[in-house]
Amino acid sequence: MCGIVGYLGERDAYPILIKGLHRLEYRGYDSAGVALINEEGEMTVCKAKGKVSVLEEVAAERDMRGTMGIAHTRWATHGEPNECNAHPHYSQSKELTLVHNGIIENYKALREELTNQGYSFVSETDTEVLVQLIEFVKSTHHCDLVRAVHLALKSVIGAYAIAVLEKGNADRLIVARKGSPLIVGIGKTEDGKTEFYVGSDATPIVEYTNQVVYLKDEEIAVLKRDGSYTITNLSNVEQTPQLQTLQVNLDELEKGGYAHFMLKEIYEQPESIRTCLGGRIDAKKRDVILSGILDNKKRFLNARRIIICACGTSWHSALIGKYFIEEACQIPVEVEYASEFRYRNPVIFKDDIVVAVSQSGETADTLAAIKLAKEKGAFIYGVCNVIGSSIAREANSGTYIHVGPEIGVASTKAFTGQVVTLALIGLAIAKEKKTLSTEMYEMLVDELRKIPQKMQWTLDHNKNIDRFAQMFTYCKNFIYLGRGYNYPVALEGALKLKEISYIHAEGYPAAEMKHGPIALVDEEMPVVVVAPKRGMYEKIVSNIQEIKSRHGKIISVVTQGDTVVKGMSDYTFVIPDTRDCYVPLLAVLPLQLLSYYVAVAKGRNVDQPRNLAKSVTVE
Ligand code: AGP
Ligand code: GLU
Repeated sequence: MCGIVGYLGERDAYPILIKGLHRLEYRGYDSAGVALINEEGEMTVCKAKGKVSVLEEVAAERDMRGTMGIAHTRWATHGEPNECNAHPHYSQSKELTLVHNGIIENYKALREELTNQGYSFVSETDTEVLVQLIEFVKSTHHCDLVRAVHLALKSVIGAYAIAVLEKGNADRLIVARKGSPLIVGIGKTEDGKTEFYVGSDATPIVEYTNQVVYLKDEEIAVLKRDGSYTITNLSNVEQTPQLQTLQVNLDELEKGGYAHFMLKEIYEQPESIRTCLGGRIDAKKRDVILSGILDNKKRFLNARRIIICACGTSWHSALIGKYFIEEACQIPVEVEYASEFRYRNPVIFKDDIVVAVSQSGETADTLAAIKLAKEKGAFIYGVCNVIGSSIAREANSGTYIHVGPEIGVASTKAFTGQVVTLALIGLAIAKEKKTLSTEMYEMLVDELRKIPQKMQWTLDHNKNIDRFAQMFTYCKNFIYLGRGYNYPVALEGALKLKEISYIHAEGYPAAEMKHGPIALVDEEMPVVVVAPKRGMYEKIVSNIQEIKSRHGKIISVVTQGDTVVKGMSDYTFVIPDTRDCYVPLLAVLPLQLLSYYVAVAKGRNVDQPRNLAKSVTVE
């Protein structure tokens, strides 16, 4: 799940490429590299292990002139993260260089074949096979590079977004995609000349132009210095490009005074949820208006079942969505790990609705899961954040969560945005199916509207978490507990802590503790319990008692005014009262802050934790 940037125009390419790589670093940061072609047609390749800043140090010693270039930030799949495996990769003759995002699944067979033809390889990557293959095809077919790219990609199995440069040719940049995202930005210089930008997402492009073309699977674009460009499919049939206008705002991509994107995104939640709800609730009529549901009313009314496919944090919000939709709409909902679902020949009926929940809209497993479900005839509904992302485009319909770009690798505002969107979907279906009384429906709509201000209250009243978090840096393990709607919150709290502080944490349904995990509890073990004064309050009080008796340290999330759980706890976070189904939206906030401050106190790289990447576009 690497990041790709490209530029062709009149400006110096290097600063544009580096800036773009910084924006894409969330996709991977094992190594970075850049290739440039100067006006004489000479090619320079510079790469380094580690972050983009290391590449910058190395490049500072080199001549990085050129008005065309490609660049890459890597999250290794094939071959360890070192300089040799870093992209761009050269072909044998060093005439070509290429960057790649994805996995070439038949790379072993291709590598063997090319080795037999006298090619030798310097890296362990699947990517090097691809650039060698293009060169091989070019020389054996005596064709030009564009044709060679077409032919080579036809014999490739797997996923790719690529950009290719050719020595001696400063006038043409070739890019292609299948399975991995790639966007071409079309800008204008001050004197009105066309220039081209390429990015794995819109973030490296938006500063220069808002006119973009999202390449489709198996499309190859040839971008030319004279400002013209063509897009063809793998069979060389010309495609009509669909120019779209980007809606991302540059300010949204900056940290805005916060130490980390994650902290900024945590604090943005009252606002992002307001935006997510915007235009979807009619306050006067106490009603939800969701075009995705209205346009497909019949399908939702006749749905036998809803299957939600997702990964990671999105899977946790999906679980909350299941509880909500089952309760409000009386439709059975299954929540599936997309990576499991796609490989087990699942039973899917034509009247099933498969919902994909994904912040990035690019998660390879989730994308594959909906493609499979689509083939089996299901109706696909997307719940994504990134507009125009692959999942959003593959879906038959959907609802964007509209929380703005999420840059921190640990998902925060997307989680709450997904929970709110799934609640809106549940309410919109319930209205059509009449499965809720008018009174209950209107009360749930009203309460949802109040969530942003209650989120603000929660953030304002939990400001001491930074001091408090210091005490837990020594811990090796944490347990998170919740029941009902708050069980997924426990899972999410534990995931957040694991991801950014590298402390082992487990999330459990509170009552399951006694079936085994309670054996882990001793005076060293912090146990975080989500215990709002709602639903199963009495039950969770007993669960806390069981842990206290084993000397565990209790950190609780309680409702404002609660004294019982507070009295039993070593530390308490307070949230305002709300309906059971909305408690996750408030309870998760102190847990996000807890993991953030523990990670900061441990000196971790919060926005770019080790071994992770923001969007997982590989299996
Ligand atoms: C969350 O903090 C994670 N980094 C990760 O679990 C993420 O939620 C998962 O990879 C799914 O991503 P998506 O929502 O973009 O599909
Ligand atoms: N397979 C390529 C590599 O390992 C690209 C990886 C990716 O896109 O995540 O270098």
